[in-house]
Amino acid sequence: MDSSFCKAEKIWINARLATMDPAHDEPFGMLDRYAIGVQNGRISLIVPQDTLCFSENPAEIIDASGLIMTPGLIDSHTHLIYGGQRAAEFSQRLTGSTYADISRAGGGILSTVRATRALSEAELVEQSRPRLEALLAEGVTTVEIKSGYGLRIEDELKMLRAARTLAADYPVRLRSTLLAAHALPPEYSGRADDYIELICHELIPQVAQEGLAEAVDVFCEPIAFSLAQCEQIFDAAQAAGLGIKAHVEQLSNSQGAALAARFDAWSVDHLEYLDEIGIAALKDSGTVATLLPGAFYFLGETRKPPVEGLRKAQVPLAVASDLNPGSSPLASLRLMMNMAAVLFGLTPEEALQGTTCHAAAALGLGEDVGMLKVGMAADMLLWKIDDPAQLTSEFGVNRLQQRIFAGEVQNA
Ligand code: NIG
Ligand code: FE
Repeated sequence: MDSSFCKAEKIWINARLATMDPAHDEPFGMLDRYAIGVQNGRISLIVPQDTLCFSENPAEIIDASGLIMTPGLIDSHTHLIYGGQRAAEFSQRLTGSTYADISRAGGGILSTVRATRALSEAELVEQSRPRLEALLAEGVTTVEIKSGYGLRIEDELKMLRAARTLAADYPVRLRSTLLAAHALPPEYSGRADDYIELICHELIPQVAQEGLAEAVDVFCEPIAFSLAQCEQIFDAAQAAGLGIKAHVEQLSNSQGAALAARFDAWSVDHLEYLDEIGIAALKDSGTVATLLPGAFYFLGETRKPPVEGLRKAQVPLAVASDLNPGSSPLASLRLMMNMAAVLFGLTPEEALQGTTCHAAAALGLGEDVGMLKVGMAADMLLWKIDDPAQLTSEFGVNRLQQRIFAGEVQNA
């Protein structure tokens, strides 16, 4: 008997594994006719089908019937906790206003801040529930959720607690991110530096102490915060032992990506205006470049992120939904994979890496999730597809046969 065999409580046989593990040479890290076993919520066994010994089988056997298994999908950038909606601004933009115009006039992020502050934590949870459910139904097993619509201590904490409370109701891994530097709150008008002080000296230490977030994010843009202000926040985040993520180079080039890379950020996100200097700074930095095609599409942008330059520099690319009420009210990671390919030129393999292994790295979870690999969490999806590229080429057809979270089968 194969000694490794007993290490699994449950084994899927006859599976085609799109492991996404670069250790395997085939596209998508494909291993055909393999068996994959799980134990205590982790992947404990990946072996060729014909090396399994059935006669002394202590495990539950599930026949995958030749279907394709992938790691669970990871949405590494969302703002899915918020109050209200901004359909009226969508209409305004269709008649000529820009996202920045609306923001400067006190709408945009600040209108969602008003709606979010007005809700209790429980109300916020309920309003956000359908958005999380939409992501999970498509195969998302890890989700990042940002604060950033509270912009004062009690409301930023309320958002982070709402994220925890909501996620606890579902089989999903949550990574929370403090994005207090999303917009200047009205109470601090003309006193941006005082607000930065509050974030650095009160909010970040409190969030770190209460374990309410794993990372800190900023919106580095003339309509939000300057490079120098972002640097202060990165310093405070680093001192508190939190990961760093950053919205940079979305609407203009502030050299935010290079700054974030210097701080060993987990990811820099958006990047439409990233230049050669930024690409050079990301090269070999370990920081993931996260593409958010939903915001590009929804805002009708024309300038695309420099995918070819990033590819040449071998910067890992993630793809995320940026799910939020203003620039990407689009609760579908599969749609983002399709858009990343059609709008930005990613290959289907890059799009799936962007929502599995590279998305994991964008959340500081590269050792834990995002690949079918022994030792990683057993978050796995079984799909009725013939080719893993279908996950990027197709949209709107539910071909998820089984969703497995921490080794437990959720549905069929
Ligand atoms: O990632 N860029 C800043 N933040 C969000 C938009 C938030 C909003 O408009 O409410 C983004 O696109
Ligand atoms: Fe965002």
